[in-house]
Amino acid sequence: MNKKIEKAINEQILKENFSSQFYLSMASWAENQGLSGTAKFLYAHSDEERMHMLKFVKFVNERGGVAQISGIEQPPHKFKSLNHVFESLLEHELMVTQSINEIVDICLKEKDFSTHNFLQWFVNEQLEEEALARNILDKLKLIGEDKSGLYMFDKDIETLISAPKTTENV
Ligand code: FEO
Repeated sequence: MNKKIEKAINEQILKENFSSQFYLSMASWAENQGLSGTAKFLYAHSDEERMHMLKFVKFVNERGGVAQISGIEQPPHKFKSLNHVFESLLEHELMVTQSINEIVDICLKEKDFSTHNFLQWFVNEQLEEEALARNILDKLKLIGEDKSGLYMFDKDIETLISAPKTTENV
């Protein structure tokens, strides 16, 4: 496997792992606030990030490289509000998108078209995740300080959980 691409994907494995722990931390915060629907959504999102990490791990190993599983720093665990949670989530996803785009760019420079092809799934996934985070933030803006609106939001957000993915279909 091309060493530059192997290194870039190994750094991405670390970022996906961090994303999973970050969303787990958000889920736990939401659960402690009594926001059970939001917690469920974020727990599922954390699982999705683990699947992203696994996709990269398996890809590197199948291509003759060595996937690195590194330690990660503790994710933030204090949030001021639900708005703060989803603003942090969107900001984090924008960073991940930038990171994926940089690997795409390396693939083009190195003429590794099969990895480029593999990455297209992540390019599309990032578009979806960013749109979802923006959509949620728009809803929260509409709700403002309305407690009954927040109650409905917490019920509705469960419908946004995508179909469960397992390691089998990674
Ligand atoms: Fe794996 Fe949400 O990026």
